[in-house]
Amino acid sequence: PIIYVVTPTYRRPEMVAELTRLGQTLTMVKRIHWLVAEDSPACSPVIASLLHRLGLPFTHLATPMPEVYRRERYVPRGVSNRRAALQWVKEEGHDHGVLFFLDDDNAIDVRLFEEMRHTKTVSMWPVGLIGDYTVSSPVVRDGKVVSFYDGWPAGRKFQVDMAGFAVGVGYIKKQKRPTMPYIAGYEEDGFLKSLNLTLKDIEVRANGCTEVLVWHTRTAKNPTRAIRLPPDKHTHDNIRGLV
Ligand code: UGA
Ligand code: MN
Repeated sequence: PIIYVVTPTYRRPEMVAELTRLGQTLTMVKRIHWLVAEDSPACSPVIASLLHRLGLPFTHLATPMPEVYRRERYVPRGVSNRRAALQWVKEEGHDHGVLFFLDDDNAIDVRLFEEMRHTKTVSMWPVGLIGDYTVSSPVVRDGKVVSFYDGWPAGRKFQVDMAGFAVGVGYIKKQKRPTMPYIAGYEEDGFLKSLNLTLKDIEVRANGCTEVLVWHTRTAKNPTRAIRLPPDKHTHDNIRGLV
C-alpha cells in the first residue's frame, strides 16, 4: 500500500531547512506520496523546486488558514492544510493506502513507515520528546489499547499527538463526515472522533507500543532580523544572493 504523508508548512526562516531535512528522509522510503500543504495563498517556488529535486511523488497545495482563526488566542496550526489534504486523499487516494500526518519540524525513523504501511482502521505508536512526560503513548494490554499515557489529558478520548497514528484511506472513505476541527490542542482527538473510532479498533504498532520511532522535535525560532548588508561592493553582491 502507498502511504500519503501530509505535511503542513508555513513561511518562516526555518521552512526550507525543515523541509529539506524531512524531504531527504522521505527519499529513503518506498511507495509514498508527499502532500506538502502550505499555509499561504500561493505555492512557494522555493518549495516547488525542492519537491522536484527530491524526485518523490508529491502534491503541492496552497491551503491558507482562514483569517478568523489567525486572530484566536490559541491558533489551530496546520488545520486548513490538513483538511485540504484530507479532501485530496478522499478524492484521489487508493482505498488500500494509508494517511499519515507529519509536521515539518518532527524527526522520524524510516522504520516507522513499514510499521504503518498495513493499516486498515487506525494504527498507533508512541511519540517521543513531547509534553511533561517526555513521551506520549497508548497503553496496551493483551495487544489492545486500553488507555493513554500523555502529559496533557485535557478531557480527550484519544490522547495522542498528530505523529502518533496513521489511518487507512478506505476506512476514511467509509465515514460520513471525516474532518479535523479548528480547535488548538484538540485536532487529533476531534479528527479521530470524526472517524467513529473505538479503542478496540486501534491497531497497535512499534512492538506493542514499546519503541519510539518518531519525535515531536521543535526548532528554536530564528528571528527575521533586518538584513544589514555590508558596505563594500564585493561582499554586498555576494551576500545579497543569500538573503
Ligand atoms: C502541535 C501538534 O503537533 C500539531 O499537530 C498541532 O497542529 C499543533 O500543536 C496545534 O495544536 O496547534 P506544535 O509543534 O506545537 O504542534 O506546532 P507547530 O509545529 O508550530 O505547527 C504544527 C504544523 O502546522 C507544522 O507542520 C507547521 O508548519 C504548521 N503551521 C504552523 C502552519 O501551517 N501554519 C502556522 O501558522 C503555524
Ligand atoms: Mn511542531
